[in-house]
Amino acid sequence: MRRKIIAGNWKMNKTPSETIKLINELKPLVVTEDADVVFCVPAISLTTAIEAAKGSNIEIGAENMYFEESGAFTGEIAPNMLTDIGVKYVIIGHSERREYFAESDVTVNKKVLKAFEHGITPIICCGESLTQREQGVTIDFIRQQIKIAFLNITADQAKTAVIAYEPIWAIGTGKVATTEQAQEVCKAIRDCIAEIYDDATAAAIRIQYGGSVTAASAAELFSQPDIDGGLVGGASLKPDFGKIVNYK
Ligand code: G3P
Repeated sequence: MRRKIIAGNWKMNKTPSETIKLINELKPLVVTEDADVVFCVPAISLTTAIEAAKGSNIEIGAENMYFEESGAFTGEIAPNMLTDIGVKYVIIGHSERREYFAESDVTVNKKVLKAFEHGITPIICCGESLTQREQGVTIDFIRQQIKIAFLNITADQAKTAVIAYEPIWAIGTGKVATTEQAQEVCKAIRDCIAEIYDDATAAAIRIQYGGSVTAASAAELFSQPDIDGGLVGGASLKPDFGKIVNYK
């Protein structure tokens, strides 16, 4: 049975000072034996978050990283800068980065390869637009995203990866996917992993749902056979995130 993983994606929110306050507030609320709990915070707050989370069950993740080791890449963050401070996870290919910062599937694959090279667990995002869903091409589109993201990734690496299915039309809109929609796509993702690798890899990889997850929708979503937790935006910045983590 796969261990659940429930991550908060803080996006561009909270100053370092506010980060300390929020983590101290959430720490007692997100205690659980049943899931890995990850807070992905803005780069400027990573060291602060790691210090604030010390001694708790909270792991800290980054929201992005570059795919080069060092060099003339102004503003970017290299993987060894993350591992040097104890970052364990990194979100890669979030739809907002694809939209606003022109990240492509190829860029995503380069970042996934580099994350594994440095022992950082990637949370690899995929998801369709409303137009694609209305056109009925959701699964074909996501299969393509997965195939490119996992190019040259070994089965052993893939087994430890996390995929986050986040329908773009559900992100920040309050319009959560139905349980059936989320399960259908997460199963299709798992089937795609089985085709790329084998059944054992598909059974091991963890797949989250993300997109307007709340305390009200978490239990039904996370109890689906192919959904192993969530990647939560807005609701992860509030005490209710404790109810999402303790959805059972
Ligand atoms: O990465 C998680 C995020 O995209 C979902 O945001 O606010 O709809 O939970 P939200």
